[in-house]
Amino acid sequence: MAQLWGGRFTKETDKLVYRFNASISFDRKFFAQDIEGSIAHVVMLAKQGVLTKDEKDVILKGLTGIRRDVEEGKLQITEEYEDIHSFVEANLIDRIGDVGKKLHTGRSRNDQVALDMRMYVRLEVLHVDELVKKLLGTLLDIMENNTDTYMPGFTHMQKAQPVTLAHHVGAYFEMFKRDRSRLKDIYYRMNYCPLGAGALAGTTYPLDRNYTASLLGFEGPTLNSMDSVSDRDYVIELLSALSVIMMHLSRFCEEIITWNSDEYRFVEIDDAYSTGSSIMPQKKNPDIAELIRGKTGRVYGALVSMLTTMKGLPLAYNKDMQEDKELTFDAIDTAKGCLALFDGMIGTVRFRRDVMEKSAVKGFTNATDAADYLAGRGVPFRDAHAIIGRLVLYCIDKQCGIEDLSIDELKKFSPVFEEDVYDAVSLKTCVDRRLTTGAPGPEAMKEVIALAKEYLAKDWQDEEHVKLF
Ligand code: ARG
Repeated sequence: MAQLWGGRFTKETDKLVYRFNASISFDRKFFAQDIEGSIAHVVMLAKQGVLTKDEKDVILKGLTGIRRDVEEGKLQITEEYEDIHSFVEANLIDRIGDVGKKLHTGRSRNDQVALDMRMYVRLEVLHVDELVKKLLGTLLDIMENNTDTYMPGFTHMQKAQPVTLAHHVGAYFEMFKRDRSRLKDIYYRMNYCPLGAGALAGTTYPLDRNYTASLLGFEGPTLNSMDSVSDRDYVIELLSALSVIMMHLSRFCEEIITWNSDEYRFVEIDDAYSTGSSIMPQKKNPDIAELIRGKTGRVYGALVSMLTTMKGLPLAYNKDMQEDKELTFDAIDTAKGCLALFDGMIGTVRFRRDVMEKSAVKGFTNATDAADYLAGRGVPFRDAHAIIGRLVLYCIDKQCGIEDLSIDELKKFSPVFEEDVYDAVSLKTCVDRRLTTGAPGPEAMKEVIALAKEYLAKDWQDEEHVKLF
């Protein structure tokens, strides 16, 4: 048991207590951030004259040596240490002796862990954003190739009006675009450095917090030391953004699962992304889509856990906050895994254009257009709606579509019908004439695709942003 404290204790910690309290099994994940934060702290202490140049050089050499040895597998992070901070400090003292004991001057594990977690989350925001962006690229490819792939659009899971595959996929494009904008917000709001807040009340050492903040790529220091050590808003915000991402993936997966069923046959999931059954030889199951849908609950769980953990905490640091790590790491890894797998699955799925198109013609998806046809010839829309309603009933009875009726039959419902009605209610016309911004008409869709391309050509990380605080 290697602990950083113990001076005021007369008894050894109970073994179970030690294990219950220890966090090294999971906070080892931000080893790199811990070292980086310590390096910045030491450089700042030397600049401020709290450490001599020699002390600084020796400590930095020790820290970079530990980092190198861990990276090269020469030094193992083992569970004999309470947490990653103790691991680094104990190893530093082993290597360089008493000077190493000066590392923690003007610092507490409370601001240290707040910094490590923030830097870890900040980096992961970028990783998640990259994956969402990659997925958007895949979706855009599908959209570009399918502006004339007709399919039924649904409301209440009932065929409603015809759309195109480009349009349907474009809906998800917008969702994932919003996800990126949430990540961007989180990034800029969290990008303030808590280091220097000490245990809760700052420190009497002349720290230059602006300097450490800039060394570590932050906009500036956080402005209240109690808030700095106990703020986990950014964790909650990321978990919330991840939950929304998972919700979007899950909705899309649900559709792929439905479309892949024998009843729909709109898509065929690639062999590489399907699995078989141990008993039923004919089976090819959409397990990956189902698993992504299933894992959504896990990420929501992390969000609710974290909100619950934080809701009763008085200022400032409380050990409850150690609970932020495992669930956040798990949620991040889960969401990243799901994004990558979904990207692979959707990028290789085979869309059956013929089946989709056939399905788009059936189910009276052109009924609105038939009503619009009458309205365009002077019939008030409400009357047109009623006429087409009766017409649909008649067709259901005859088991045919509106377009299958003869002009004489049509005229029995309204004398306004002429030969040009067949073109007006054809699948192609129904879709192609929907040209309002955001509508499925191929020409309208092309405008949106051009905007999407412009959007993907830029990265928010390279753009100017307003400093939030
Ligand atoms: N393992 C702790 C955490 O994750 C680090 C901070 C410990 N601070 C303390 N006062 N015990 O929150």
